[in-house]
Amino acid sequence: MKIAIINGPNLNLLGKREPDVYGDQGFETYLAELKKAFPQVEFHYFQSNIEGELVNAIQESGFNTDGIVLNPAAYTHTSVAIGDAIAAIKAPVVEVHISNVHAREEFRKISHVSAKVKGTITGLGLQGYSLAIQWLVNK
Ligand code: DQA
Repeated sequence: MKIAIINGPNLNLLGKREPDVYGDQGFETYLAELKKAFPQVEFHYFQSNIEGELVNAIQESGFNTDGIVLNPAAYTHTSVAIGDAIAAIKAPVVEVHISNVHAREEFRKISHVSAKVKGTITGLGLQGYSLAIQWLVNK
């Protein structure tokens, strides 16, 4: 099965960026662990800091994968276009946030994404991606 992992802005800096909030592991090394843990999955990984590129990736993955694990990062709280892209596609989407967005600033409680996805995992660190993949695999 094919699963796309799509990460939004600043997640290319995982491991260096606010390690007290996001941990000290970069996503590339975590992705290698995911590939080992789920050998049956063909992973397609995409990260961008640009909103429109994320919309394009959601559209492309939305019709040729079995599921998408999406962390839209800050665009979660601002992007109507990303919410609309999720509503437009066929593949099930699981939203993941590394930190607990509900335990942080008020603006992080607003989401243009959560109502459009199958479910959301927030606050469980990088393990949230693994849990999302497990759900998609068992589906
Ligand atoms: C995040 C939470 C967002 O509020 C923030 O803007 C991010 C990362 C998370 O994974 O915890 O960049 O999506």
